[in-house]
Amino acid sequence: MNANDTMSAVDLGRRKIVALAAGVPALALGGAVLWESARGRPALAAGTTPIRRNIGRLPADDGYVEAYRDAVRVLRQRSVRDPLDPTGWDGLALQHALYCSSVSANLQVHWGWDFLTWHRGNIWMLERIMRDAIREPSFALPYWDASRDRRIPAIYWGKENPLADVTRLQGPEDELPDDFLDVNGPLSLESFFAFGGYPYDNPSGDLIEGALEQGFHNNVHNWVGGNMGMFATAGFETLFSAHHNNIDRAWEAWRAVRGQGKDPAEDVWLSRRYQFVNERKKLEDVQVKDLLDTRRLGYVFDNFEFGERLKPDPVIDERYAVRLPVDGPRTQGGRQPRILQFSRASVPIHPYCCRVFLEVESGGNERAAQYVGTFTVLPVQRGGAGGLDKSVTMQLSLSDAVRERLEVALSVKVVLVGVPLNGRAIPDAAVFPTDARLVEALI
Ligand code: C2O
Repeated sequence: MNANDTMSAVDLGRRKIVALAAGVPALALGGAVLWESARGRPALAAGTTPIRRNIGRLPADDGYVEAYRDAVRVLRQRSVRDPLDPTGWDGLALQHALYCSSVSANLQVHWGWDFLTWHRGNIWMLERIMRDAIREPSFALPYWDASRDRRIPAIYWGKENPLADVTRLQGPEDELPDDFLDVNGPLSLESFFAFGGYPYDNPSGDLIEGALEQGFHNNVHNWVGGNMGMFATAGFETLFSAHHNNIDRAWEAWRAVRGQGKDPAEDVWLSRRYQFVNERKKLEDVQVKDLLDTRRLGYVFDNFEFGERLKPDPVIDERYAVRLPVDGPRTQGGRQPRILQFSRASVPIHPYCCRVFLEVESGGNERAAQYVGTFTVLPVQRGGAGGLDKSVTMQLSLSDAVRERLEVALSVKVVLVGVPLNGRAIPDAAVFPTDARLVEALI
């Protein structure tokens, strides 16, 4: 790309609007009227509701891919011309930064029940701004389904590619580990809180993520690394909206499985308000209850499939393993607890990625380790101090297989195994002092 190409893209866009405003077809080629961007891209077919599609499954020469690239290029160019343009790529990235590394708890949109809704609003506004920028009313933001496409899709790589990001700690051939990609586990949870995030004022007094956020969502952020590895910079990475689009799809999948009406009914949630800068550079006030129908927002998804975990459970890498006793009754009212909870866990490093196993000792010295899940703690800032908060509360749901073993257990230990990633070593003796408990439900 060179600046002239892009400038001409923008200029042509303006001429086209002028032509349309005058009621004149923008460009007529060979008898057919085509919408066209500066690069000769044919128009997307105008359809009904725009469909968000899987970028990893579209051929690179699909008109939709070109439209996506064009939209990102135009937004990036806006930021080059005017770094303060709120509809430019950087301006949009900074809005995410404001809502995640903020010193005010009111502005924190991770670690709780604002996670799905705020990010839905954020990428919906990005989609609207992209549509507007390339004059394609039928454009829809594509998603990257890391649960099925475990490499960063090819279209995100390459020099002079507006979709590339040089800060990634992975290359085009690197693959996400299977256990980072569990979407079906969270989808099996009935409670919105357990799936999507707990109320900020829950009885524990802590911010608590839902399973989708603390596992799949955070694991992918951290694995990509670089800009994507920190909330403050994630919005600069094109994979951010592609990943969040997939998270949004997971929420829609959960709603489809559970039936409508399983989202929180609390008015405090439904009436929460966010403000986003829209395509006219105006602040638009959006309430959570207005974000619950994607058709009304102007998009649908092409499908609700997610990958299965492909390999057997991971094994314990003893070099990074830490064992802790587990508190809490093994049966409550004849049932085994569903949740393994870590209270105010003190994370040894940031970001921290960890595999969790339960080691259950039953009679006859039989000791079996069962894999529970993989989570990531991304750096979080909280409270007026501005420093990194290393104390987190989290919950992992237990599979039926694990729960059955608990009843006959003599002792239960939790094994926390740090996961080293490209560019990030696990320091020796990374201890994770925490209180591990078995509980039936958090709230
Ligand atoms: Cu606001 Cu995936 O982060």
